[in-house]
Amino acid sequence: MDVFTLIAFVSTCFLIFLKASTAIDSISPSEPLPDGKTLISNDRSFELGFFSPGSSGNRYLGIWYKNIPVCTVVWVANRVNPINDSSGMLIVTATGDLQLLSQNITVVWSANSTKAAQNPILRLLNSGNLVLIDGRNGNSEASLWQSFDYPSDTLLPEMKLGWNLRTGLNRRLSAWKNSDDPSPGDFTCEIELQGNPEWVLRKGSKKYFRYGPWNGISFSGVPILSPENQIFSYEFVSNEEEVYYMFSLKNKSLLSRIVLNQTDYAIQRYTWSEETRTWKLWLYLPDEYCDKYGLCSAYGNCDSTQLPACQCFKGFKPKSPDGWSSGDWSQGCVRNKPLNCQAADGFIQFGRLKLPDATHSWVNKIMSLEECRDKCLQNCSCMAYTSEDIRGRGSGCAIWFGDLVDIRQFQSGGQDLFIRMSASELGSKRNETKLKLALLIAIPLAALLAMLILFYYFCQSRGSSEERIEEKKENDIKNEGQDEDMELPVFQVATISHATDNFSLSNKLGQGGFGPVYKGKLVDGQEIAVKRLSLSSTQGVNEFKNEVKLIAKLQHRNLVRLLGCCIEGEEKMLIYEYMPNRSLDSFIFDQIRGKELDWSKRFGIICGIARGLLYLHQDSRLRVIHRDLKASNVLLDDEMNSKISDFGMAKTFAGDQTEGSTNKYAIDGLFSIKSDVFSFGVLLLEIISGIRNRGFFHPKHSLNLIGHAWKLWKEGNPLELAAESLGECFTLSEVVRCIHISLLCLQQNPEDRPPM
Ligand SMILES: *[C@@H]1O[C@H](CO)[C@@H](O)[C@H](O)[C@H]1NC(C)=O
Ligand SMILES: *[C@@H]1O[C@H](CO)[C@@H](O)[C@H](O)[C@H]1NC(C)=O
Ligand SMILES: *[C@@H]1O[C@H](CO)[C@@H](O)[C@H](O)[C@H]1NC(C)=O
Ligand SMILES: *[C@@H]1O[C@H](CO)[C@@H](O)[C@H](O)[C@H]1NC(C)=O
Ligand SMILES: *[C@@H]1O[C@H](CO)[C@@H](O)[C@H](O)[C@H]1NC(C)=O
Ligand SMILES: *[C@@H]1O[C@H](CO)[C@@H](O)[C@H](O)[C@H]1NC(C)=O
Repeated sequence: MDVFTLIAFVSTCFLIFLKASTAIDSISPSEPLPDGKTLISNDRSFELGFFSPGSSGNRYLGIWYKNIPVCTVVWVANRVNPINDSSGMLIVTATGDLQLLSQNITVVWSANSTKAAQNPILRLLNSGNLVLIDGRNGNSEASLWQSFDYPSDTLLPEMKLGWNLRTGLNRRLSAWKNSDDPSPGDFTCEIELQGNPEWVLRKGSKKYFRYGPWNGISFSGVPILSPENQIFSYEFVSNEEEVYYMFSLKNKSLLSRIVLNQTDYAIQRYTWSEETRTWKLWLYLPDEYCDKYGLCSAYGNCDSTQLPACQCFKGFKPKSPDGWSSGDWSQGCVRNKPLNCQAADGFIQFGRLKLPDATHSWVNKIMSLEECRDKCLQNCSCMAYTSEDIRGRGSGCAIWFGDLVDIRQFQSGGQDLFIRMSASELGSKRNETKLKLALLIAIPLAALLAMLILFYYFCQSRGSSEERIEEKKENDIKNEGQDEDMELPVFQVATISHATDNFSLSNKLGQGGFGPVYKGKLVDGQEIAVKRLSLSSTQGVNEFKNEVKLIAKLQHRNLVRLLGCCIEGEEKMLIYEYMPNRSLDSFIFDQIRGKELDWSKRFGIICGIARGLLYLHQDSRLRVIHRDLKASNVLLDDEMNSKISDFGMAKTFAGDQTEGSTNKYAIDGLFSIKSDVFSFGVLLLEIISGIRNRGFFHPKHSLNLIGHAWKLWKEGNPLELAAESLGECFTLSEVVRCIHISLLCLQQNPEDRPPM
């Protein structure tokens, strides 16, 4: 469309609209139109009026965007019955129906509203929804009819695509035939109801593209919406009453719409760019070869990174090998070994898939994956199963009957699917996995061995190249330490000083309870964190070494690992592994970085801390009370696994606080394992709420965070505590359980608090 026709189009749009509006005013039904004037244009973004699309002279009643220069029609009333002259009247009848009349008073279109109304009012809402309400009781909720229930080719924000199961209403889109004719073309999309509801695009009666079943986060066949997307969010609701998709704008001043495009056979999302004053194409589906419905037929897996794109799944072979190799995949794949339903079949897990067509499927939202597997085995025509919802560690059950079609392989994203196999097929598979397992173990073992040997030679050569005087000193320390079997590497001050750039300020990570912490890099490239213990410590070298050896024996994946120590004269240092993501407090109390931690990550962190603490309290050789558990003492590795740091130091520097005395509770619980439990409770609340316990302030009451949490719990809205930090996806039961546990840990009497 060039500029000239664009302008012409816009002005037609508008001129005809003006004419029509006069008609609305001048010809009223026997009952006056109460809102006759506000009906035609709302104060924000949409207008209702008559328009003539493209080059056609036909006139339609429609809704379009108000404040943008490109005439974009989002809804059409009389799609199939255009008015072919300059007449046209929209009336609200006394009985509460909405009718479009042409000049000789024939009804061109009717809303067919049959609900009796005493005082019908027509309104165009800011959302673009044209609603007919009964003004009798001023209750605008009770709409008699709304245009959002009868979409054309466009889905607007807050508009539901899908079913009202109570009334049987199905809101679906159908494309315009062409840009001159808004009557429904053969390209449609709707949510199809079946065992597992799916969003399907059809060309005529044939399936053209599937979104894939909803998995709690997204549709398994389309890319996951990046959390950075600032334009819109969406939801998919499926319950006894409704099944629908709906999106909402994050910023109400933006414009975004989904439209079905007949010329391209595509579903497109456009967003308005205020800068260029044009619609920008934001999403276009289907956009890949493998999106084509059923391309690889039964048990074929479409992988667009492979040539040819269609591959049979493991355990399957082409039904017609000749056809398959020449690129005719229509026959699909068949099993190498037939199923034997009576004998024990099994399953092979395939990852990162778009799940198969769910027409013949069944779902259950509460079953576990094991129950799901059993359910599938009970029915000989069940061919695959997986979790219905992949949030957290997965929940629910989805199973498929009959041949599996329209599956594709993703490189990232997608979902696991367990495909049924005969026991004999599994046998050969098992041997394969055994071999794989053996390799998995053997290779790292060999690597470890090689590393040990290297390390040994490295130490040897380092020893020989350093100065003799140092050697003597080291010997002194060794003798002093008595134990020749000290497993922990002892570093020299010079090495550490070099690694930390002479303890430069720029390498300082922070100030821990017992001295400053520096980041360092050893000559071999390994990154370390160095804790330089305060000189004021009165401990002797021997005691220190013994303690360090004990700490070194505390090894657990949720404890920061001690790599070695360094003792020279007054100087005492501990060398730890370096944690690239620093400490937990830098995330949870930070508005921006906090967003990186969604609920599943937070839950993982909570579980990690609990495991680490359980180990310290109960499973380790010496029972350790941390005594300073807090967010800044929980470090995060590059995969956001939580690791407790500073453990054991508390004990080390507490003089003679030995195991015996830990059995007695001090008055404030400071020395008991139950005081760690208390700290754990506080930490839990902080992780859930993203608010510091210290410095918490609530405008309505003077409680601290703990009191506030307890208040919310008693009032029955514990989730309010978590509102800010959880993001959009979380498992309700997990959040509530964590809050519950934290409150149990925070009980006044230490004996009431549960052990880790
Ligand atoms: C308008 O449409 C009617 C019915 O299709 C047709 O009979 C009539 O001739 C048309 N009028 C004009 C002016 O095209
Ligand atoms: C308009 O109505 C008259 C009768 O009132 C009828 O003769 C004529 O055919 C109608 N015109 C159209 C276009 O339907
Ligand atoms: C209203 O009913 C008529 C006759 O049954 C039908 O042709 C028309 O499509 C209906 N209109 C709407 C908006 O459903
Ligand atoms: C919403 O978008 C408008 C226009 O892009 C922008 O000026 C405004 O700051 C945004 N508001 C928010 C809350 O992001
Ligand atoms: C269909 O898409 C093409 C480009 O992809 C675009 O030029 C055209 O305007 C679209 N049609 C509709 C009705 O949106
Ligand atoms: C297996 O499932 C199919 C599809 O739901 C069903 O028709 C069939 O009756 C089931 N068979 C058994 C034995 O339950």
